[in-house]
Amino acid sequence: MAFETLVIESNNISLSVPQPSGERQLWSRLWGAGLILADLVPLVVPSAQSHPGSSDSVQRVIELGSGLALPSLVAARLGAHVTMTDASAESLALAELNAKSNSIQVYPSNPGDPASDKPAGECVCTRKLNWYDPLEAELASTYDLVLGSDIMYMNRLLRPVARQVRHLLKSDGKALLVDAGRCFGEDFLEICEEYGLKVSLIEQANVRASGFVLKKAVVMLVGFDDDTRQRITDKLRSMSAPSADPEQFGYCL
Ligand SMILES: C[S@@+](CC[C@H](N)C(=O)[O-])C[C@H]1O[C@@H](n2cnc3c(N)ncnc32)[C@H](O)[C@@H]1O
Repeated sequence: MAFETLVIESNNISLSVPQPSGERQLWSRLWGAGLILADLVPLVVPSAQSHPGSSDSVQRVIELGSGLALPSLVAARLGAHVTMTDASAESLALAELNAKSNSIQVYPSNPGDPASDKPAGECVCTRKLNWYDPLEAELASTYDLVLGSDIMYMNRLLRPVARQVRHLLKSDGKALLVDAGRCFGEDFLEICEEYGLKVSLIEQANVRASGFVLKKAVVMLVGFDDDTRQRITDKLRSMSAPSADPEQFGYCL
């Protein structure tokens, strides 16, 4: 497979991505929702400066369907312990390489406690996690924050994703998911309610991130307070593209 390098300046991260050729796998592209999520992550992951030298207050973060895993790398840079997950082993191998090339430490997956005995800051691990597989008991109520972008692109994915989010989150955990709004509707909120997830949605048209414009961004929030919700709303507004350049609209790079 041939690769090219994409530099994501706003996140100060460069990514090796498979060169476009033939039919491309979903994981091998950088999706607009992922670029937006990467820009929102600093609003919800406290930076390492706010917990110097302490591993107690380090956030445990998991990204679902991480693909090229840009939001995970941004969260790790801020000092979180991040588990990048996908159904595709190839995507996880590339996410590890990209972490290393951005000087982020990679730890072997450690079931049950993916971030224990790690120093604070800048570390990731990978774990194969398919939303349709049985829930993994050792990951129950483990994470402070679940991230995901463009992982609910078909109606049939809403339920398995909601089920995973509920399973993985600590009781006071939070989730931040960004989507292109293909499938969100009343049924999604009902499904979340079934799983005990109190969801709030923010919708914003024409959101620009890293030079790319997504026609519609739907941000799903679980567990955040009103102040954080307002900061996220303000940030999305500040990212809104003033005029529509049809060439820029699309789902992915
Ligand atoms: C549209 S891509 C989004 C990738 C990345 N989150 C982004 O925003 O750039 C969907 C991702 O979900 C993963 N995926 C699809 N079905 C999955 C499943 N059943 N379990 C886990 N991951 C899955 C794909 O491998 C791919 O990485």
